[in-house]
Amino acid sequence: MNIDKNKFPLMAKTIFGLENVLAEELKSLNAEKIEIGNRAVFFEGDKELMYKANIYLRTALRIIKPINKFNIRSENDLYKNIKKIKWDKYFGISDTFSIDSVVHSKYFNHSKYISLKTKDAIADQFREQTGKRPNVDIDDPTIKINIHIYEDECTVSLDSSGDSLHKRGYRKNANLAPLSEVLAAGLIYLSGWDQCSTFTDAMCGSGTILIEAGLIAANKAPGILRKKFGFMKWKDYEPSLFNQLLIEAEQKIKPIDFKITGSDINPGTVAIANENLKNAGLEKEIFIETRSFEESKPPEGEGTLIINPPYGERLKEEDIISFYKMIGDSLKKNYSGYDAWIISSNKEALKYLGLRTSKKLALQNGPLEVKFHKYEMYQGSKKAKYK
Ligand SMILES: C[S@@+](CC[C@H](N)C(=O)[O-])C[C@H]1O[C@@H](n2cnc3c(N)ncnc32)[C@H](O)[C@@H]1O
Repeated sequence: MNIDKNKFPLMAKTIFGLENVLAEELKSLNAEKIEIGNRAVFFEGDKELMYKANIYLRTALRIIKPINKFNIRSENDLYKNIKKIKWDKYFGISDTFSIDSVVHSKYFNHSKYISLKTKDAIADQFREQTGKRPNVDIDDPTIKINIHIYEDECTVSLDSSGDSLHKRGYRKNANLAPLSEVLAAGLIYLSGWDQCSTFTDAMCGSGTILIEAGLIAANKAPGILRKKFGFMKWKDYEPSLFNQLLIEAEQKIKPIDFKITGSDINPGTVAIANENLKNAGLEKEIFIETRSFEESKPPEGEGTLIINPPYGERLKEEDIISFYKMIGDSLKKNYSGYDAWIISSNKEALKYLGLRTSKKLALQNGPLEVKFHKYEMYQGSKKAKYK
């Protein structure tokens, strides 16, 4: 068997419901041994692929590199096994580190205590070897260590992304309920939009869905906009390789020759969205105006609409019912020829749209379970499709 020593296991973390689209993204990067997990996709690759995954993947939250696995049933076992890892291979006493732990186990309760025990083991190892220890820095460490415990299986990984990859770098300002950039990109992929025809969001808020659609259409990798990745502080960082990959990514950008438009009822929000568009370098490609959904005028012909309306947590029930009825009526009136997709946690309210759902998907938006529903707004005689 031909084993490539430069290849190692990797894992991309994601949001519930986006595992399959993330696996597709990984396929297009030629990742090997792709396996779908729970809010994660496992794969194998070399350093170049790890850099590429950070630059290109739109539906990954972070890319982590497992460095050790062992079985444990007590905090003492954890301490001993963490101490066996040769940490000076990864960082030194003048560096800083942080630990993030996730625990699903009958043997361990507190992830904070797991992080503390891991920190002690690492600090003690350095102190015994050099008399000094590296400091912890939770905001901007040299090395971010991930501990994942499932029952008695413990995996120790390094976080190659650093900050979560949803932080693309274009959204400096956000309104009260912005969608995660990773979720927005996931919605666009899940909608099956062909990436070369009219696209609109008429409740666009800070513009996340529109910007992600613009980046996809322009073939602009989200990592191009980011300044920092975790792996840049690793001992084995190869700036020349990373810069070469960035140049290649920039060469892939193409012009957008169709309409991407958006609107929102709130002028302050539209100003923020326009600011974000500029940060993403898409201000010439995407047009956003202040307009209510009732009066929104999408480009004529066929197109795709994705909206993330208020879910109604702060509205009275009768108000939220009439709000969703208004959305349904406006879709019938103004959006014939469109595939309309709506994401909402309010299953009851969605029923008041008065439209037949042609696809139903389940996702997670932060702490909320949400539905992502498709409504096909037929033109002319097919209007019978409405309830
Ligand atoms: C949940 S937020 C959308 C967040 C957006 N996806 C983002 O990432 O920033 C809902 C948006 O709907 C807008 N909105 C509420 N009622 C509206 C209406 N009748 N017409 C158009 N927009 C409306 C709000 O101003 C708000 O920006």
